[in-house]
Amino acid sequence: MAEISLRNLTIEFGDFKAVDDVSLTVKNGEFVVYLGPSGCGKTTTLRCIAGLVGATSGDVLFDGVRVNDLSASERNIAMVFQFVSLYPHLRIKENIVFPLKARGVAKAEIARKLDWVTEVFKLGDDLGRYPAALPPGARQKVALARAVIRDPAVLLLDEPLSAIDEQFREEMRWELGHLQRQLGVTTIYVTHDQREAMSLADRIVLMNNSRIVQVSVPDRMFFDPVDIFAGQFIGSPSMNLIDLEPVSGGLKLGGSDVTLTPERERLPQWALSSARPLKLGVRPINVHLVDDPQAGVALPVDDVFSVGRERFFSFRIGDTIHQGVDKRRSNSGSEGRVHFDPDGFLFFDAQTGRRVGAEDAA
Ligand SMILES: Nc1ncnc2c1ncn2[C@@H]1O[C@H](COP(=O)(O)OP(=O)(O)OP(=O)(O)O)[C@@H](O)[C@H]1O
Ligand SMILES: [Mg+2]
Repeated sequence: MAEISLRNLTIEFGDFKAVDDVSLTVKNGEFVVYLGPSGCGKTTTLRCIAGLVGATSGDVLFDGVRVNDLSASERNIAMVFQFVSLYPHLRIKENIVFPLKARGVAKAEIARKLDWVTEVFKLGDDLGRYPAALPPGARQKVALARAVIRDPAVLLLDEPLSAIDEQFREEMRWELGHLQRQLGVTTIYVTHDQREAMSLADRIVLMNNSRIVQVSVPDRMFFDPVDIFAGQFIGSPSMNLIDLEPVSGGLKLGGSDVTLTPERERLPQWALSSARPLKLGVRPINVHLVDDPQAGVALPVDDVFSVGRERFFSFRIGDTIHQGVDKRRSNSGSEGRVHFDPDGFLFFDAQTGRRVGAEDAA
């Protein structure tokens, strides 16, 4: 096990910065998930920790020791990628012990380790088979077993489940989380699937445009996004974002003639008197369709639709379509008023996109 630190890490390809001044410490035994859109620099960061890509500037440290100049094989890391490559002509058992054999580990030790991973990964029935005989989920498990059999200090996983069918992925995800805790190995896991991130991570590192946007435990990522990007990237359906115009008596929803008022929507005083233009972020779970003509505000409702057991509705403010959750009886029509739950209000600086609260408003 090891603690991993990145200190002002920058990685350039030509004049393109794939990773831009990133600092982070992953604690011993921690499960950290890197999350972010395609091309934001997740894989590049992982490959640099592994020693497969060099840092342009900044440091990578394992347990406080700078490893920039160590090759991948000197770093005691194990990496598993999206597409597993097992040796097709070797049985599962031989695939798993391959890294130990290659290092000349003693036979008795190899047998002991094999027993251990076989038990942990429940691979007993598959040991004598060839890779082609196993479904993709099982092959990925073999790859993980091969990765951990030599007690790596660090486990680096780059979208290891994304090539697996949806139905097995859920199960694999559970097993992987369980295994990591059992092994206690420091793990960095890359994905762009937020469900995976939310369910596996001790902490999530959210990246965008080559930089770290936010590092938080999963819950805080959802409830306390640092900016509009974080607010909209996490959560599905996505957070609604609404322009606000300060008017006397409340905040007008941009492009409409609807005003949210301090009495009805419990708007905080600082937001009413904020010197800077604000945007309101509110998640669909905090916007409801209601029948009571006294409640909520009048906004055009376009559509009510079901996704599984949940019913959503879409409504318009100006030209923008937003979403809410319809919790009324299932035979209610699309007539109704839109109620915003102020407990779910997030305010953002319209210019910088940063989240603002009472303390920043002055
Ligand atoms: N060897 C390389 N040479 C040049 N550019 C590269 C190289 N490796 C990565 N890049 C670029 O760096 C950027 C970040 O790539 P990276 O693979 O780290 O993204 P990612 O976050 O893992 O994305 P994805 O979710 O699609 O896997 C991309 O624009 C990519 O094209
Ligand atoms: Mg990638």
